[in-house]
Amino acid sequence: MTLDLTGKTALVTGASRGIGRAVAEQLAGAGATVAVHHSGRNSEAAAALAERLGGHEIAADLANPREAKRLWDEALDVLGTVDVVVANAGVFVEADPEVPLDDWLAAWDQTLSVNLTSLAVLSREAVNHWAARHAESDRQPGEIVGRLVTVSSRAAFRGDDPAFLAYAASKGGVVALTKSIARGWGRRGVAAFGVAPGFTATDMASGALAEDADGLRAQTSLGAIAEPEEVAPTVVFLASGLADHATGTTVDVNGASYVR
Ligand SMILES: NC(=O)c1ccc[n+]([C@@H]2O[C@H](COP(=O)([O-])OP(=O)(O)OC[C@H]3O[C@@H](n4cnc5c(N)ncnc54)[C@H](OP(=O)(O)O)[C@@H]3O)[C@@H](O)[C@H]2O)c1
Repeated sequence: MTLDLTGKTALVTGASRGIGRAVAEQLAGAGATVAVHHSGRNSEAAAALAERLGGHEIAADLANPREAKRLWDEALDVLGTVDVVVANAGVFVEADPEVPLDDWLAAWDQTLSVNLTSLAVLSREAVNHWAARHAESDRQPGEIVGRLVTVSSRAAFRGDDPAFLAYAASKGGVVALTKSIARGWGRRGVAAFGVAPGFTATDMASGALAEDADGLRAQTSLGAIAEPEEVAPTVVFLASGLADHATGTTVDVNGASYVR
């Protein structure tokens, strides 16, 4: 069995660092042409990665969900067509429930906008495009022309700490959206999958790791925190076309720290 994405194009959101960067590298390694998305705050890293992978770099601040539509349009423009979307960009914003409501709502809005609403806008653009492509080209029902892989979190299933209510709620929404796309668009050429990581050694987890790395390691049955390169292969496998009958599923990659 070979993971071969030769001739395929992929848009990876949040690919300037962390899990998204590892996914972009591994998709490119499997032959895909990749658009490396970032927020605009990390242009140098994203441009260097895109150049190294022979791909493209696109900036879009997903705190504004309308930017997700522009991101899609630009990805189509630079890639010509988009076969795979990996919706990975995310934020982990702390807001204790006891802070003033304005502060709590600001954290809630930022989290929901980046993690869920922008992901929904991007997914909507992608599935409408794929459904049109499927209809145009006289395809068989069940023949897949586009694959969406969303990155949620263990928190979607386990919940999170009180200061991360928004994060857990956003990730639960990502799982439900992924299932709904899988159910609604399967006959229209789309497969949709999720990956739900546990703690992974990236900037996002650096605070928690600095506080209690031993405790986090002890939560896993492997006694180790995953590296981004150990999460990415599951994404690439789901994107490869070898797992289309798993459409609708979200795969846990959390070292058995939460088994559901
Ligand atoms: N690390 C973990 O422990 C863990 C666990 C479970 C789930 N996850 C999920 O895995 C995904 C990737 O996380 P990570 O750990 O790789 O995080 P990370 O290292 O913090 O990277 C986050 C990525 O998202 C992008 N991003 C953040 N805010 C953005 C915005 N407003 N607009 C556009 N892009 C934005 C960042 O772009 P810039 O570089 O431009 O800021 C960066 O590429 C997230 O969805 C996260 O929730 C992570």
